[in-house]
This record gives sequence, C-alpha cells and structure tokens, in this order.
Amino acid sequence: MADADHTAADRFLRPLEFKGLRLRSNLFLSPLAGYTTLPFRVVIRELGGLDLCTTDLVNAKSLLMRNPKAMKLVATCPEDTPLAVQLFGADPAEMADAAKMLEEMGIASVDVNMGCPVRKVVKTGSGSLLMTDPDHAARLIRAMVEAVRIPVTAKMRLGWDSTRITAPDLARRLEDAGVAAVFVHGRTRAQGFSGHVDLAGIRSVVRAVRTIPVIGNGDITTPALARRMFEETGCHGVSIGRGAFYNPWIFRQTAALLSTGEIVPEPSFEDRLAFMVRHLDAMIRFWGEERGCVQFRKIAPWYARLLGPSSYFRKRVATMRTRADFLEVLDGYREWRKRFLDENGELLPRYRPVPVGGAFADTEAGDAPSIAVPRGPNAIW
Ligand SMILES: Cc1cc2nc3c(=O)[nH]c(=O)nc-3n(C[C@H](O)[C@H](O)[C@H](O)COP(=O)(O)O)c2cc1C
Repeated sequence: MADADHTAADRFLRPLEFKGLRLRSNLFLSPLAGYTTLPFRVVIRELGGLDLCTTDLVNAKSLLMRNPKAMKLVATCPEDTPLAVQLFGADPAEMADAAKMLEEMGIASVDVNMGCPVRKVVKTGSGSLLMTDPDHAARLIRAMVEAVRIPVTAKMRLGWDSTRITAPDLARRLEDAGVAAVFVHGRTRAQGFSGHVDLAGIRSVVRAVRTIPVIGNGDITTPALARRMFEETGCHGVSIGRGAFYNPWIFRQTAALLSTGEIVPEPSFEDRLAFMVRHLDAMIRFWGEERGCVQFRKIAPWYARLLGPSSYFRKRVATMRTRADFLEVLDGYREWRKRFLDENGELLPRYRPVPVGGAFADTEAGDAPSIAVPRGPNAIW
C-alpha cells in the first residue's frame, strides 16, 4: 500500500460520531423517496461499507396521526440499524413531537428535510423553503434538539437558486441550534438535477461550520468520484443516492478504495442479477407479491444502467406481475444480451456503461445518453 493511500485512509475513511451516535462508516445512503424503503436498505446493508441509512421523507403530521402510509415508511427491523428517519414539516412543536415519537420507537437519529423542491412539500413551508428562512429553520431544529436525546441532522441543498446561496450561513445557524450534522446536496433548488454538483459550494459549507460533520452529496456514481468529493470539499463523509441503485456495491468498493487505494473487481453480470432477485424477494416479503412486483417495475431499470444494453429487459420488466415473470425476463435477457458480448462473455467495449453527470449513459446502439432521474412526482428532486 502506498503512503499516499494511507494518508487518504486516515483522512477520508473513518468512523464518525453524530452527537453520541457512533457510526462505523462515514459513507451514507441518501434517501430516494419510493426507492430507499426497508427492502432495499436490508439488502444493500448486506453488501457492506454502509452504516447509517435514512428513510424516505415522512410527513411529521401524518406520523403523529399514525397514518398507515407514514407508519409503513418508518417500518424497520433489527437488520436495518442504525436508521435515521427523515421528517418534513414546518411547525417546531409538531416536529419536536414527531422526533419524540421516533425516539420512543428506538430510531437512532432524525433528519430534517430542507432540500425537497416538490410543490406539495414547499407550499407547507417545509422542504427547500426552509433554506430561505434560516431563523425559522434554526427554531425548528432547536425545538427538536431540546425534545430528544437522539441526534437531529438536516439535509439541504446549496440554496433556493444561484442568487440565494444560503447553505453556509444556514449550516452555521443550525450548528448553533444544536444540529448534529448536515448533509449537503451540491445543487440549488432551482437546478433540480441539471448541470453538475458544485463541489466548491459544498466546500463553503464545510468551512462555515465549526465542529459538526458535513456530509457531501451529489453525482457520486463511482468510488473515484466519492474520493473526489472528499478531496475537493474537505467533507467528513459522503452520501450516495442514485449511484447506489446503479451499483449497490459502491459503498464496499469506496471503502476499499479509500482504505487500501485498491480497485476491487466489479461484480459480475450474474452477481447483479442475483442482487436484483434478492431485492425483489425483500419487496415481496414487505408488500406481498402483487404490490411488490408492481413497485419493482420502476426500480429494476435503475439497475439495468450498469448491465450494458438493456432495452429487452426494460421493456419486459415494465409488465411483470409475479416473481416467476421476473425470472423469465432474466432468462430471456441473458440470451438476448449475448449479441453484445465478446468471446470471453464480456461486453464489447462500445457497450460498456460510462458515467455521465450523476447517472450512466445508455450505450445501446441508437439510444442517446441520458440522465436517469425517473419521471413522476419525484422527478425534480
Ligand atoms: C427519486 C428521488 C427521490 C428522492 N427523495 C428524497 C427524499 O425523500 N429526501 C431527500 O432529502 N432527498 C431525496 N432525494 C435527493 C437525494 O437524496 C440526493 O440528494 C440527490 O439524488 C443527489 O444525490 P445522488 O446524485 O447521489 O443521487 C431524492 C432524489 C431522487 C432522484
């Protein structure tokens, strides 16, 4: 191992503490509403490299009313620890009560959403709107911190738009209010997912706070990009969202790169298919076969981004109804994909996936490269 790599390990890969909560890894799974649910968390944790995971955002009011959808979002199990629940809301008393409820349930940490740009959330005064009112955001955090012993963290973007970059000031104000850590997605609310993540913007947040950890987030699709996030921002940890769906091994691979400087071999095509089946099985256990399969239709195409050409797979998976359907799609896909392989069974170079921004280009002949932010209500996250 080279000296420089030792330095990298000392500097980058280390346990972190969020106000008394000791974490074995400073690599985090970012919440992706509709995707990072319990079944995914359980199967990705098995691959290693990861410790604290966060739920999808949960409406604090709905949680207090024990709304069944909200209760399903905070469902967890012993293999799913430590777990943070992400709340959204604007009322300090309500957010404090919801945090108390989560503490009583045994949740390890509570995260406050300050980045969601979706109209439905913003019009309630929460999500990214909190970035425009640091006084209120600080009051909200203080009320929660005073109500619970578990850590309270915040997840934000850089600001509302390029003329209102509030993250450095906001992070400092939240630190004074008692926040245990901040997660920063290096884009503004106005940017949605366009352009590239602004590493200098994240660096300004790191420089603005005194002692709390800042976790950098955005566009990390390879271990090398994770290392770049550490190097260029000085952040204390990194959080990965979409990259974990393209490649669930990314945490283990990043931990290896940061600790030994080595690039571990990529999982095989069959490893990736087997992981999908494990994920589907967990979805079926959680939702039942019919609902689990319908939900898996929107998840499977993300994995396909690293499989090379996949139009056959994406088309057929869109109508799967049962586990048996899925296994049949995989069999057909194995056969169909052979035309893109060399004599060793490897993808021909022109079909190998390449990272583009926060996603992977689709290399199948005739398809233009595109960023795979899914369509639908969450499309502008
Ligand atoms: C489909 C989708 C759903 C998301 N849901 C949430 C959410 O519930 N809470 C949140 O704070 N961020 C959410 N995000 C933002 C991600 O956590 C993350 O900040 C963003 O995707 C950038 O990181 P990445 O490039 O690693 O994906 C979502 C993003 C996507 C694409």
